[in-house]
Amino acid sequence: MADNRKIHLKILRQDGPSETSTKRWEEFDVDWHPQMNVISALMEVQKNPRTADGKTVAPVCWESSCLEEVCGACTMLVNGKVRQACSALIDQVAPDGHLTLAPMTKFPLIRDLIVDRTRMFNDLKKVKAWIHLDGSHELGPGPRQSPENQEEAYPLSRCMTCGCCMEACPQVNGHSDFIGPHAISLVRLYNLHPSGKMHAAERLEALMGPGGVQDCGKAQNCVEVCPKEIPLVDSIAVVSRQTTKHMLFGWLLK
Ligand code: SF4
Ligand code: SF4
Ligand code: FES
Repeated sequence: MADNRKIHLKILRQDGPSETSTKRWEEFDVDWHPQMNVISALMEVQKNPRTADGKTVAPVCWESSCLEEVCGACTMLVNGKVRQACSALIDQVAPDGHLTLAPMTKFPLIRDLIVDRTRMFNDLKKVKAWIHLDGSHELGPGPRQSPENQEEAYPLSRCMTCGCCMEACPQVNGHSDFIGPHAISLVRLYNLHPSGKMHAAERLEALMGPGGVQDCGKAQNCVEVCPKEIPLVDSIAVVSRQTTKHMLFGWLLK
């Protein structure tokens, strides 16, 4: 049952990339509805893009796709905390009716609440975060994966490349090349897989040297914000041990 409550949104806006546009805050009032989430509040603004002081403005831009916290597209700062907007229920994140929205700060801004997460996808290419197939011909059954191996792999496989961990990590900044926790954790995942193991050395080599796993400052902010509760700090420790071992003994395998 709807009542007359209003939600007051304060949104950090920018018409284009930082080189060409400047930031500004705009404020909007929208009607509250039961079970409303941040995306539905943004949709209300889109239907009637008039600021709280009565000015008609361009509709606010944001990105979303799955609307069930599996694609990561809607990641933004909701009342200062990085998270997915689609799973952020207004009654939980803004019980007093005041909602502040801003784009993530660690990625190039495209417009309003949309950022460009390409660097994360490039990092996946760098560490070969996939299982290689050498053709579509019949290869027979693959190697068996033990239940213990599956248990370790499953939580890691839930990463959706959303960017929360990158946003929270102090080592990911304009002055560093640190690859960040998500790619490191995916190296652990693919190196665990019985077929993925065949390319473990290449993955570890991509994480050795500047920008690699040793650049982690162990602040543990990443694990605090990961919406999928991926054990990122454990992954960093596991991969760090694997790279050290590879550095010392990898030449024996060549
Ligand atoms: S590790 Fe977690 S926070 Fe980082 S990209 Fe994956 S799902 Fe998002
Ligand atoms: S533990 Fe490492 S990857 Fe995680 S936030 Fe800290 S510095 Fe970043
Ligand atoms: S729209 Fe896919 S995670 Fe929110």
